[in-house]
Amino acid sequence: METVIEMKGITKQFPGILANDSIDLEVTKGSIHALLGENGAGKSTLMSILFGLIQPDSGNIKINGQEVKITDPNVATRLGIGMVHQHFKLVHNFTVTQNIILGAEPCKQFGIVDLKQGTKKIRELCKSFHLEVDPEALIEDISVGQQQRTEILKMLYREAEILVFDEPTAVLTPQEVEDLMKILRSLAASGKTVVLITHKLKEIKAVADVVTILRRGKVEGTYKVSEINEKEMAAKMVGRQVQFAAHKKAQKAGDTILQVENLTVLDGRGIERVKGISFDLHKGEILGIAGIDGNGQDELVYAITGLLPVKSGRILLNGEDITELPVKNRFEAGLGHVPSDRHRHGLILDFLLKENFIIHAYNSDFAKHGLLDEATINQKADQLIEEFDVRASLGRQTITRNMSGGNQQKAIVAREIDRSPELLIIVQPTRGLDVGAIEYIHSRILEQRENQKAILLVSFELDEILALCDRILVMANGEISGEKKASQTDEKQLGLLMLGHKSGETYDQP
Ligand SMILES: Nc1ncnc2c1ncn2[C@@H]1O[C@H](COP(=O)(O)OP(=O)(O)OP(=O)(O)O)[C@@H](O)[C@H]1O
Ligand SMILES: [Mg+2]
Repeated sequence: METVIEMKGITKQFPGILANDSIDLEVTKGSIHALLGENGAGKSTLMSILFGLIQPDSGNIKINGQEVKITDPNVATRLGIGMVHQHFKLVHNFTVTQNIILGAEPCKQFGIVDLKQGTKKIRELCKSFHLEVDPEALIEDISVGQQQRTEILKMLYREAEILVFDEPTAVLTPQEVEDLMKILRSLAASGKTVVLITHKLKEIKAVADVVTILRRGKVEGTYKVSEINEKEMAAKMVGRQVQFAAHKKAQKAGDTILQVENLTVLDGRGIERVKGISFDLHKGEILGIAGIDGNGQDELVYAITGLLPVKSGRILLNGEDITELPVKNRFEAGLGHVPSDRHRHGLILDFLLKENFIIHAYNSDFAKHGLLDEATINQKADQLIEEFDVRASLGRQTITRNMSGGNQQKAIVAREIDRSPELLIIVQPTRGLDVGAIEYIHSRILEQRENQKAILLVSFELDEILALCDRILVMANGEISGEKKASQTDEKQLGLLMLGHKSGETYDQP
């Protein structure tokens, strides 16, 4: 079998960390090759080197047997290498076609862009790789899954033969994940080579042929996927056995913390996204919101946290009406929030890690006589780094942008759980986390429950919802299509409710 990618002895040092330590990687033509490893293990760095975004300190790369120097992404493109990043790089007020041909425009005479020819080629690509997306739609009007397909088309349009995906499923809904898996298979079947970075062991089992496991910058090993199971993969990447099932103690819920009454919320464009929803949440209870992305979950959370105004209805926290309260006061009144979009609402990337840890500290814990108290801040930062195993190369002084994706996520979760708010609203808390980190974060969320805090958990991962929650509300089209006790339901039933099949049955409050 032909080797398409051969990386040998790749080493990359960043200040404070050896991100890639003499890495060897060989990838066979037409295969799907998974890259697995803990948060901060060096996966994105290695693929950024292959794509010419980062220069290695030493090591060689051969593409199709030829030694190459990939000095920038244009060189990578010419060599037939494409990459889909975790945060898409699309122009939002451009159409799908305009985005795809950007920088590679087909020209008529006198340099006039030939949009028609571009659209034609894109339609053909859509057809041959089963990529459903409307070439004339604006990026801002299409789903995340379709935006991702646009990124894939961008690579195919440039005739990429090697396609690198950095955690492509972290942002997708379960249905979109299934579709992507089919797309990956059809790419490989047509002879293209796929490198897939993912934390989802199930996905590796479902589509990959080979898996290379990285640990702390080194290759731990390369395995045939058919010869290794999920438990073994997890143990090899983390260096210990991982407990997949969270351990939830039986416990009675207490007084009501949050009351949502007849809540109706419009999105930024005036479309009704939450349609008269009511529910309660109690002390010592984890309430899950399940649903397909875009069914009103974001707007519900924004309304409770104060990021969006409500059209009608009331929100009560500890009996106090907070419906009109500014965000800051809600946090003071006992709210915590792990947002879905960590780059928009969660972190300031150009700040130091320690600054991001105290960004919400509206109280005076970190200030003395109106000045920031550096010693206390440093101590808090070091405590969170240690407890939550946040891997940052320069410790608390690391610029947040330079941290790996999963470690940025751990930082937000650490900050919010550590504040131990009365009501913690967490959206996709374990997105982008490795299995070891998920195990830890789950245990900390359950600890909050044991401490009689109330938790509202929004997640697309049904296994996460089922493992952690006491009660589950399913949202479909802005309404609650059903309410279930976690112990009395399963993925299948929730899946039906997610599609809007009303169950009619509700359970009494615990
Ligand atoms: N531009 C940079 N400057 C400084 N350090 C960096 C830079 N990019 C990455 N690092 C560091 O290199 C290490 C490896 O990071 P990398 O992003 O490759 O991890 P990863 O395996 O992709 O992790 P994750 O699963 O969290 O995405 C991390 O410690 C990270 O902080
Ligand atoms: Mg990464």
